[in-house]
Amino acid sequence: MADLLTTSRLDGGGALVLRRERVDLVLAVGEAVERCRSAHPQREILADLDAVPGFDGEPGLLARVFDNLLSNAVKYSDPSSTVRVRLQSREGGVALCIEDQGIGIAPEDQFRVFTPFFRTDRSRARDTGGVGLGLALSKQIVEAHGGRISLGSGPGEGTTVLVFLPAASG
Ligand SMILES: Nc1ncnc2c1ncn2[C@@H]1O[C@H](COP(=O)(O)OP(=O)(O)O)[C@@H](O)[C@H]1O
Ligand SMILES: [Mg+2]
Repeated sequence: MADLLTTSRLDGGGALVLRRERVDLVLAVGEAVERCRSAHPQREILADLDAVPGFDGEPGLLARVFDNLLSNAVKYSDPSSTVRVRLQSREGGVALCIEDQGIGIAPEDQFRVFTPFFRTDRSRARDTGGVGLGLALSKQIVEAHGGRISLGSGPGEGTTVLVFLPAASG
């Protein structure tokens, strides 16, 4: 899993080949929240998960995305601050929003954080130990599912990562 970026599970065009099955996103996101809560029992992690339609995706890869985004939200924010997770139906699909009140990401870094091994100066100054692959992998996985990942952030304002997963067409 760690070497997904260079894996043999790529088709001729370099896209990830998925092993899709029906995924209950409320359950899958809820389980990721629970994993995060057990890893960080002191943190307040609020989850507001609407009932959304089933999604055809690869459960292990989606779990990896949820774990990555939650661990970033916890890692790059103060232990006394809150992390908020929302799952909602949107036109054409499902939106997952993970919001922290942490150190934020400077505007010039907001596209670079999706590049493998990129870490911001602000986070390198912290003793957090990541290698800078989580968001690159998450982007690759979300896009392989036909989705989009984006973020909104300002230094000191916290960060909100939005994952949109499209409903199956037809
Ligand atoms: N929620 C967040 N708040 C602030 N900075 C973040 C957040 N998520 C990611 N980043 C920045 O983006 C970089 C890349 O993230 P990621 O790929 O998950 O790598 P890692 O967490 O291993 O450093 C991080 O090093 C950090 O600088
Ligand atoms: Mg990370």
